[in-house]
This record gives sequence, structure tokens and C-alpha cells, in this order.
Amino acid sequence: MSRILITSALPYINGVKHLGNLVGSMLPSDVYARFMRACGHEVLLICATDEHGTPAEIAAQQAGKDVAEYCAEQYGQQKKYGDAFGIEFDYFGRSSSPQNHALTQHFAQVLEAQGLIEEREDAQVYSIDDGRFLPDRYIEGTCPKCDYEKARGDQCDNCGSLLDPTDLINPYSTISGSKNLEVRKTKHLYLLQSKLVDRVREWVGSKTGWSNLVTSIAYKWLDEGLNDRCITRDLKWGIPVLKDGKPRPGYEEKVFYVWFDAPIEYIAATQEWAEAQGTPDAWQRWWYGDEAKDVNYVQIMGKDNVPFHTVSFPVTLLGSEEPWKSADKIKGFNWLNWYGGKFSTSQNRGVFMDQALEILPADYWRYYLMANAPESDDTSFTWEHFASVVNKDLADVLGNFINRILRFTKSRFDESVPDGGQPGHLEEKLAADLGAGIMAYGDHLEELEFRKALQELRALWVMGNEYLSEAAPWAIVKEDPETAAMACRTAINLIRIYGLLAAPIIPASAKTILSAIGCENEMGHWPSADARRELLKLSAGAPFDVPDVLFKKIEDDQIAEWTARFGGPESNQ
Ligand code: 2FM
Ligand code: ZN
Repeated sequence: MSRILITSALPYINGVKHLGNLVGSMLPSDVYARFMRACGHEVLLICATDEHGTPAEIAAQQAGKDVAEYCAEQYGQQKKYGDAFGIEFDYFGRSSSPQNHALTQHFAQVLEAQGLIEEREDAQVYSIDDGRFLPDRYIEGTCPKCDYEKARGDQCDNCGSLLDPTDLINPYSTISGSKNLEVRKTKHLYLLQSKLVDRVREWVGSKTGWSNLVTSIAYKWLDEGLNDRCITRDLKWGIPVLKDGKPRPGYEEKVFYVWFDAPIEYIAATQEWAEAQGTPDAWQRWWYGDEAKDVNYVQIMGKDNVPFHTVSFPVTLLGSEEPWKSADKIKGFNWLNWYGGKFSTSQNRGVFMDQALEILPADYWRYYLMANAPESDDTSFTWEHFASVVNKDLADVLGNFINRILRFTKSRFDESVPDGGQPGHLEEKLAADLGAGIMAYGDHLEELEFRKALQELRALWVMGNEYLSEAAPWAIVKEDPETAAMACRTAINLIRIYGLLAAPIIPASAKTILSAIGCENEMGHWPSADARRELLKLSAGAPFDVPDVLFKKIEDDQIAEWTARFGGPESNQ
């Protein structure tokens, strides 16, 4: 048994997240955690809302609310929809917590003592009409790299370049639209990342089993040479900049940059968890010192977050010279797009978590998203593809198998597992294939290769259908009831195995499936690869119910309705 710490990238506080956000971090982290728990490991799954920075301030302003009030309200929403999707975080914290304030101050102080934080005078864009500096998203203009006209001060959404507000061509304030801007000098704190390039390169180089996507992003950044990074901003909402416990002179109107404090919240949220459960020191064995050395720490995120986790956060941790736990594995995802374009609330394009649950239960989404996770490439959501996957895999292959065999058994035998003869060569072959499939599925999950894992899971379901077609208990029940009963017993045992294997992906359905055959107390356990034995677990007399249809097929009129409501192929034209 090992200890596995999993962190899901922290969703920004500004509104309910869409399916692309869900599949890029929260959902796979839950699937992985459920699998690892089922295998008997000690798992801690941590997430939180990312509450600072201009996105939070701007969203609060648009909602006509005070930022703190807005964040508290949105936190409640995100927590609610995460729960409704079956995401079982051990703790879902908030980056605005007192713990994160204290820890961020701690890191800033230690890094400064190590000579890794320096005060620099900086040229910043000041809006005369707004009477303030315009950091990050408070300023937009034309991207100097790709000419996109709505590039933000911190990043161009079109080409992905990280920008500085002074780089923008024809800039304007997003607060007032004013172009009456000037560049003024002001002091800021810089994290001297350049001093740690070699350390970070060595750290990345020491890791094994990272995907190409992640290592190529990390080395691209390291090869281009790390720029020292400004870690303060001219904003009110955020973590204040202190010196010796008092406001740092010249920084009274400034706070730490959101990307400095957000990853620190992984640790702080673990402290929140420890305090909430009445064991305030329990976080340490996951994060600090010798006790945390044997923790296996996995971080899960979308590809835009990879630079901050492969480079910036390691600079914070390694640069402190304190024995903090750093990531052992980083899993990055590409984008899930909407018909090849972006999800957008304002343009009515794409499904957000609250809307998804209005139209279908969570498991339909969970299965589809994990089966089509954007791992090796960006992928596109389309209603047609979604419907075909749900209808084939969930309704036809899995749901139908379960209903068909239970209904048949009930009608021919009884509402309990029938006795019958000894397994024959069909069952031998099934056991061999099943054992290999269970192993392969588990290996892929362990490697966080979700698409491959789900292909394997589906193949296991297909295998059951093929077995049933060949064994055909309905065709032989009259002349050979013994063998027919044995085939039914074997198939009902397959249902149990499917319930256990599917639980990380479709937990609510897995519970229904296992309950139908009286195995709900086994939920959260993993079957062994000794399939011959697993196929004999439920013996004659074990009672069962025939559940209602497990997965309803998606009909054409539903596709038409949802396309009209959430956008379809034409929504990106
Ligand atoms: O990209 C995002 O959604 C960020 N809020 C992720 C932060 S991850 C972490 F480092 F906190
Ligand atoms: Zn650009």
C-alpha cells in the first residue's frame, strides 16, 4: 500500500466550469483517486477554488458584487456541481483561506532570504481616467506576436503567448475602454527564476514516465531561458505583501500575483483539510520533511497550466531550500473544444457543468468525457458523437447485457443466481481473456492513460456480450438446463466484475449495478486478475433484482433540442 497525493488544478472562481475544464483536471483526478483507493492505497485528493487575480475582480464587478461576497457565493456553486458530478475531493478549499495567506507570506519571506526575490522598479500601464494601474486582464490590445486584436495584458488567447501589458499594441482599459494610458514607474517584487534554471532542469530530468506533452512544454520553457517573474500586482483583492508581518512600504495597494499563491494553495488546502478534521498537523506527512518522502504526488491539469507546474511552482518549492514535497508525476491534458471552437458562455456555445446535469445524469458525461479525454491531441465535442458513444457503449453494450441476462435468468430460473454445471471451455477462454483485460485496464489507469483504459473497459463489456451470444443459454435451456444455468451464473458474476471495474468512471451506475446483485458493500474494491475465481464469487442462491433500464438512449429530437440550446456545428462560424 502506498500513499498517493493527488491535486487537481484549481478552477478559477469566475463562474461554473464547462465540460472542457471538467475533463482537464477535476474529473480525471477523481477517477484516478477512486481507482487508487479501490486498490487499497491511502489517497488524498485535494482541490480548491482559485480566487485571486483580475478574473475574480472583473467577474465580481460584472455581477455587481463585492469580490469577497462573490467568491463565497461562487465557491458554493462550484462545490455543489462538483459534488453532483460525483467528484469526491477529500477537501475542496479556497485559495483565499487564512492558511493560504500565511503560507504564501511564508514562501515569499523564505525566498527573499534565499536571495531569490528582488525588488525592481517596473514600467506599468497606468490609466489616467480610471486612476489606477492596469494589470493583466484590465488591459487589452493587439498581440505583438499574432496581431489578434483582443489579447489580454497577461496572455494572448489566440496564440498562447505570455505577454506583459506594455507589450500590447493599441492598448485600452477594459474597465472604462479608455485609451488615455501612460507608462508609469512603480516597484514590484520579482522571483529570480533565472537563478534556478539548472536546478529545475535537473528536477524535470529526474522524472520518469511523464508524457511528451508535459516534458516538451517544460523543456521549451527551460530552453528559452527562464525570465524572472513579477509576483506582485496592483490590485486590492488578493494576498497582501508584508514585510516582518506589517504592510511592506510601497506595497500597500499591491497583492501577490495569482499564479504565485494558487499552487501554494495545494498545500494550504491540505492544511484546511487537516484543521477541518481536527488533526491540524496531519497535512505535514503529505507535504513536508522525511515523512512525506515516500508519498507519490500526482498533479493533474490542462496544458496551459503545465509551465506553472513544471517550472514556476518548482522554483518556489526548491528555492525555499525547505524539504517540501514536489510532484512526482504531472499529467497534462490538451483541449476539449466545442465543434472545433471555444466554449463560451456569452456566445451560448458549449455545455457548462450545471447545464449538463439538467439534461442527463452525471455518469453519461463522465463516461463520454473519459473515453474521449483529450490526451494525445485536442478533441472536439459534438452532439452526434456524444449520442453515438452513449447509445452504443453504455446503452447497448453495458446496459443491455445486464438487463438481458437478469431478465432471462429471472424468467427461466428464479430471482437468485442459479446453480448449474461446471464451467467448460467457453468459460475457460472467458476467464483467460478477462484476466488479461482486467490487468491491462488497471495498468492504463495507473499510468493515467484514460483513453486506453476506457477502450479496455469497453472491450471487457464486449467480451461479456460475445460470451453470452456463444453460450446462448436461451437456446439450450430446454435440453440442457444445467449448462444454461451455469452460463447465467457466469454472466451474473460478470455483472459484478463490471460494477467494480466501472466504479471509478461511472460511480452512481456502478452502485445501482452492484446493488441489483446484492454486492453494494463491495463498491470501492478492485477485483483480482484471477478471473476464474472472480467468476465464481456469486454462488447459487444469491438474490438479485432486475434494475430499470440503466442508460436511456439519446434520441434525434434530443440532439436537435440541445443543438438549438447549446450550439452545434454552425456555432463556430
Ligand atoms: O487555469 C486555471 O484554471 C487556473 N486557475 C489553475 C490554477 S492551478 C494551481 F496552480 F493553482
Ligand atoms: Zn497572439
